[in-house]
Amino acid sequence: MANVIIVGMQWGDEGKGKIVDLLCPAFDGVVRYQGGHNAGHTVKFRDRHFSLRLIPSGILHPNLLCVMGNGMVVAPDAFLQELDQLAAGGVAFDGRLFLSNRAHVLLPCHAALDVAREEARGANRIGTTSRGIGPAYEAKASRYGLRTGDLFSPQLEELLAVQVERAQAELATLGAGPLPPVSDYVELCRAWAARLLPVLADTEQLLNSAIDAGKSLLFEGAQGTLLDLDHGTYPYVTSSNSTAGGACTGTGVAPTRIDGAIGVLKAYTTRVGGGPFPGELTDARGEFLRERGNEFGTVTGRPRRCGWLDTVVARYARRLNGIDTVALTKLDVLDAFDEIPICTAYRLAGTVVHELPPDRWSLETVEPVLRTLKGWKTSTVGILDPADLPQAARDYLDFIEQELAVPISILSTGPRREETLIQPHPALVRLTSDRLGKVIEQR
Ligand code: GDP
Ligand code: IMO
Ligand code: MG
Repeated sequence: MANVIIVGMQWGDEGKGKIVDLLCPAFDGVVRYQGGHNAGHTVKFRDRHFSLRLIPSGILHPNLLCVMGNGMVVAPDAFLQELDQLAAGGVAFDGRLFLSNRAHVLLPCHAALDVAREEARGANRIGTTSRGIGPAYEAKASRYGLRTGDLFSPQLEELLAVQVERAQAELATLGAGPLPPVSDYVELCRAWAARLLPVLADTEQLLNSAIDAGKSLLFEGAQGTLLDLDHGTYPYVTSSNSTAGGACTGTGVAPTRIDGAIGVLKAYTTRVGGGPFPGELTDARGEFLRERGNEFGTVTGRPRRCGWLDTVVARYARRLNGIDTVALTKLDVLDAFDEIPICTAYRLAGTVVHELPPDRWSLETVEPVLRTLKGWKTSTVGILDPADLPQAARDYLDFIEQELAVPISILSTGPRREETLIQPHPALVRLTSDRLGKVIEQR
């Protein structure tokens, strides 16, 4: 049995939802460990289409355990809405979906703060999803946050008063409108508490007991490596640890119980929101990538910024997350190009560097060093046998494998589960506990 972390290797939206859903037949449970409803994970199979924001992408597989860990910040209204949508879509979750009673509650005042702060930053705005993620994590780190378990506390009103009063004071300095009275928040929280009660659990115990019983867990990362609070392109990052290490702190499962990591890498690069993006294509080719790849945010609908694949970023992500094997997504989007450049290094003040500079000013000034490969100009959509891949596409994959020194064992050539080529590399066989046959069968 193996416990595996799935993590995005770029700036999010790599196709994690699709890959998690694909691999579910090899696992007994799926666990989200950080982030909130800033995430938007798309799952498509046959004629079904789901967009998941808080609930693990494993929910679409009947009988799979789904857990939202302590590292998340959860807006109960968004969560309840997602539950209603699943129920309307005929997805049953009773008795198999659990939310940590240590996860923090994201309140409407956090979203109000997020919006007002972004406005105040003007041109320097982070480009957040406006959901209140930063302020919710800030309350947690400042030790006045409200945890889901606190919704039942006799001190609920006092706990809420601290949050609302602090938010109100800051909003006033930013010239933003007044918040509703604390009593409104108390009422809201009481209503949420009643509906959340059946899913709240001590998920640390639940997950460790499942592992004790020989179950295999998949840890579903949200956002991506370059959006990690510590290792990303700070300050243009999210407010949690989206890299593999976050899976341990965000669930209470020890590093010694984790068996490996699968990195999800898009065949090109996108980023939504502000911040440095070496090699961003601001010309017609970027526009073409955006249209072909349908690169518009799942959460906010914003157009995503596009560029070629950047292996400086991908190598950094491989190392930081200890990636054993890669799931490469959206190869089909490149089907139409004559030539496909890859950024393999940066030029920084006249010097070629092969590592990501840690400071924002250097990152903003680097120029990409490109290596151009031939395009294949034919459709790869739905190819299931590597022998059917055009030679130029194989060369592209080989080049990436050499750059990263890890095998690509999953190749996605369309949004649907069926459009996935799976190669039984030893790393993938090990991480799927010899249940890869089941994955292929249910693809
Ligand atoms: P996530 O946040 O990492 O789960 O990714 P998103 O769901 O936000 O964005 C990925 C988008 O690409 C979704 O619309 C997917 O349906 C779509 N997608 C995933 N894999 C592929 C692929 O191989 N080809 C194409 N064309 N679309 C894909
Ligand atoms: P998934 O899980 C892409 C980006 C925002 C912004 C920065 C901070 O779908 O890959 P936040 O609201 O978190 O404070 O915003 O992070 N961001 C994402 N970009 N995919 C995501 O999630 C993201 N979640 C946050 O655009 O730049
Ligand atoms: Mg997304």
